[in-house]
Amino acid sequence: MKIKNKVQLPNQQPAIRVAAMPKDANAGGSIFGGWIMSQVDIAGSIAAVERAKGKVATVAVNSFEFHEPVFIGDLISCYADVIRVGHTSITVKVEVYAQRNPSNPQTVKVTEAELTFVALDENRRPRQVPAEN
Ligand SMILES: CC(C)(COP(=O)(O)OP(=O)(O)OC[C@H]1O[C@@H](n2cnc3c(N)ncnc32)[C@H](O)[C@@H]1OP(=O)(O)O)[C@@H](O)C(=O)NCCC(=O)NCCS
Repeated sequence: MKIKNKVQLPNQQPAIRVAAMPKDANAGGSIFGGWIMSQVDIAGSIAAVERAKGKVATVAVNSFEFHEPVFIGDLISCYADVIRVGHTSITVKVEVYAQRNPSNPQTVKVTEAELTFVALDENRRPRQVPAEN
């Protein structure tokens, strides 16, 4: 069987890595898209918190594409890069790869998304993103 989107992992540290478990599956036996969206939100927020040097909230999911299914047992790696910084907002691109089939390892790019976060002050109102060091 031809494996679509078979690729190498990016040469950078992933924001998160997590194994997809049976409890994350949908009725069809593959992994529930909402679980993947949750992992993407967490991964994006890690990059945004680092850039904001503090609390953030997700204000928008600008795009979200599921290229390939994720299966139980897949090891998911989410790579997050800040692609835009506004006055109070930080936009992050997240790419998700699945590693599967340890006896004949395959890496598949399964998902990519772009999310915008807002830096928050102690009253949960937007605050200016600090200058980069
Ligand atoms: C995030 C929040 C504090 C922003 O408050 P707000 O009054 O809408 O803020 P503003 O209109 O000043 O917008 C703040 C920034 O977000 C950006 N923004 C707002 N809505 C956006 C959207 N739909 N898409 C992209 N960016 C958006 C604005 O352009 C602005 O960016 P900038 O300062 O870099 O120019 C408020 O919307 C909120 O609390 N939302 C709920 C967040 C949350 O709970 N997220 C988790 C969901 S489960």
